[in-house]
Amino acid sequence: MKIAIIGTGYVGLVTGTCFAKKGHDVICVDVIQEKVDMINQAIPPIYEEGLEELLKQTVKEGRLKATLDFKEAIQKSEIIFICVGTPSFSNGLLDDKYVRSAATSIAQAFQEGQEYKVVVVKSTCNPGTTTDIVKPILEKSKLTSGKDFGVGMNPEFLREGVALKDFLAPDRIVIGGNDERSQQLIAKTYEGFEAPILQVDPTTAEIIKLASNSFLAMKISFINEIANIAEKIGSDVSSIAQGVGMDERISNKFLRAGLGYGGSCFPKDVSALYQKSKELNVPSKLLEATIEANKIQPLRAIKLLKETLEEESLKDKRIAILGFAFKPDTDDVRDAVSVPIIEKLLAEGAIVYATDPVAMKNFKKEIENENLHLLSSIEDVLISAEGCILVTEWKEYKDISPAKFLELMKNPILIDGRRAYEHDRFIESDVKYKAIGLGNK
Ligand code: UDX
Repeated sequence: MKIAIIGTGYVGLVTGTCFAKKGHDVICVDVIQEKVDMINQAIPPIYEEGLEELLKQTVKEGRLKATLDFKEAIQKSEIIFICVGTPSFSNGLLDDKYVRSAATSIAQAFQEGQEYKVVVVKSTCNPGTTTDIVKPILEKSKLTSGKDFGVGMNPEFLREGVALKDFLAPDRIVIGGNDERSQQLIAKTYEGFEAPILQVDPTTAEIIKLASNSFLAMKISFINEIANIAEKIGSDVSSIAQGVGMDERISNKFLRAGLGYGGSCFPKDVSALYQKSKELNVPSKLLEATIEANKIQPLRAIKLLKETLEEESLKDKRIAILGFAFKPDTDDVRDAVSVPIIEKLLAEGAIVYATDPVAMKNFKKEIENENLHLLSSIEDVLISAEGCILVTEWKEYKDISPAKFLELMKNPILIDGRRAYEHDRFIESDVKYKAIGLGNK
């Protein structure tokens, strides 16, 4: 099919290249000339495992191209996916300004008597956006939805780092078509995908996305609270999670206790659904608690550090931080827990030496402080440190031996914020090893 993708960010570009790989003809539209040029030269403007080679292949085959020209893209396409960003308002609801702008440009490109086209919202949005905002904007074109064009909502469930895999081998495909013909056309783009298709209305599709992310985030906040209980009792939350996760109704996925969830989706989506619940006068206690638990979890690393140092003050202490990215294998620091942790250390007068294999450039935009030293070398960060917190479980940090910590640090205290290390590795060593959810064994 002929597909237009509006927005070439993380979701748009992954969607476009994967659809092109499946044999569709794809035109990606963006408003930034530099991004359009990069894509046409098969240089991805974002990093995602496997994206570069897939972009090269699809651009070379002439199956994918990028343009600034909305009109050309819309007029040549049968189905148009809106994949623009939906940043958060301060109250938590998602800002749909880019979705509105995309819908307006699509309406302006619509022509009397054109072939039937379907406009599909893929961006995560507040419940009701597709039918109450996008559809009316499209009808300003004087064309009638359901007759001259279709409307739908098709959420993405992509994880950073494994987005291509998640797109090409999804657990399910949710299609929120406004009418039967829209449903069928959207389903046609997914022919050849081996995944169950769930057909619902657009608003239900929007809520499925928000509820899925909220449930995963809640599961993480739940195991983090169990970790806090386990620490006090003297048990190991990893074993607890293993036992709980053996129940197939629960599964062991997303039961890794740590310093809390970050990223560009969980924090945003949980807040959006919670804000919506308050607006509807059914404020969700579970969503509220998920958010609150996640706010305090990062600071548990500092509490553990102080307990191990046996000092309340961190003033002038040299503290090492390993990892900025919100999770390994990405340079993304959006809502990363490294930010509140480093801010708190600096506020308490600590001198912070920190590193990350790839997220340094992005992290620099987050915090400026004379007592914060960002270094590329692990050794230089650990030298003379009086405590170290592992924040992101990068493989290169997992490989650091107890001997290395002992050799470099002034006071070999290691707070493992992501359960990246096997506790037993440190029992024989003089490293004072503490971990989230590891009772004082
Ligand atoms: C998430 C959802 O998984 C994905 O389906 C959705 O489309 C977008 O949001 P992503 O944000 O890329 O994907 O990362 P994910 O791998 O889900 O991790 C999110 C955060 O949760 C990370 O900070 C990670 O460290 C944390 N996490 C994850 C835990 O703390 N414990 C876990 O067990 C799993």
